[in-house]
Amino acid sequence: YYNCILLLLLFIRTPSTFCSVCERCIDNIFNLESPVGLTSINGTTMFWTVERLTKWLTSPICYYNTDTDVQCCTILPITVYQPPDNVSVSFVDHTAPMFEGKQYTLQCTVEEVAPVKNLLVTFYRGQTALGQLQSKNNNPKPVTETFSLNITLSKEDNGVQYWCEAKLELGPYGPQLPPVETSQTITATVFYKPQLEGSLHPEPITVLEGEPLQLNCSALGNSGPSYTWTLPSGSPFTSSSSVLTINSATFADEGKYTCSVSNDVGTATVELNVEVRGAVPSFFS
Ligand SMILES: *[C@@H]1O[C@H](CO)[C@@H](O)[C@H](O)[C@H]1NC(C)=O
Ligand SMILES: *[C@@H]1O[C@H](CO)[C@@H](O)[C@H](O)[C@H]1NC(C)=O
Ligand SMILES: *[C@@H]1O[C@H](CO)[C@@H](O)[C@H](O)[C@H]1NC(C)=O
Ligand SMILES: *[C@@H]1O[C@H](CO)[C@@H](O)[C@H](O)[C@H]1NC(C)=O
Repeated sequence: YYNCILLLLLFIRTPSTFCSVCERCIDNIFNLESPVGLTSINGTTMFWTVERLTKWLTSPICYYNTDTDVQCCTILPITVYQPPDNVSVSFVDHTAPMFEGKQYTLQCTVEEVAPVKNLLVTFYRGQTALGQLQSKNNNPKPVTETFSLNITLSKEDNGVQYWCEAKLELGPYGPQLPPVETSQTITATVFYKPQLEGSLHPEPITVLEGEPLQLNCSALGNSGPSYTWTLPSGSPFTSSSSVLTINSATFADEGKYTCSVSNDVGTATVELNVEVRGAVPSFFS
């Protein structure tokens, strides 16, 4: 009637177990052996409580002796869980500028967590989960591990926040709400070449003589773009504005306008053809 049952009652850092020895062993010597914690006995039940586990893989052994031999024993395999000390996210080479269309590696560093193979790491872009990773490391002791995810950045990622979350899965007997640690958020700065906004004018753009002429080649870019207009006369005109305004159009203003939008990443060019008509409608137009 070897009947030693060990149950783990509490998990994180204050585990408590009990060992129940066979009823008929009452006259025998029985004990619960462990290098740490306190043991108390009530009848054939022994309780083992530890204030704080600092050793790893400390397994209590429950046993009893008969007059002639040692009935050994039940070993309780203990998993000591330690939520991470710190979770942080970064881009590899995060000090270098990042450009649209290029691949970058996001990394999530989880410090001093055990056992790392029970950890589920999720990367987020805003509120959207990008991917989940798990460790293959079977080390039961606290370790620091870095998880990586490759992403290709687009211009829409400029200004978006990235972060990661580390969840320690405690299994079916663990607390209903497993420990979750989240990292800080980092904001991606993505450099991209100017992209023209809005739809292009139907060509050609017609304006009446003496009326104002306004050409718009507004574009988005990071860094902020600058605009260079080339007038029909061929002379360039650099402006911080996307809009070229001529207060009163004359026939000399007719022709091809080129708007060249540039930033550190690249240049976008748009051509606009302008026709100036006489204020009095002509029979030939
Ligand atoms: C020991 O166990 C008995 C029966 O389960 C219970 O009535 C009693 O209160 C316990 N004693 C202590 C000190 O826990
Ligand atoms: C967590 O780690 C990051 C990156 O190493 C560090 O900047 C931060 O201060 C740490 N936070 C804590 C609470 O230790
Ligand atoms: C990320 O990309 C780099 C370079 O292409 C590659 O060496 C690495 O294995 C990739 N990492 C992952 C987790 O896919
Ligand atoms: C130029 O075009 C942009 C994009 O279509 C628009 O937001 C802006 O208001 C326009 N500017 C003017 C002065 O019409």
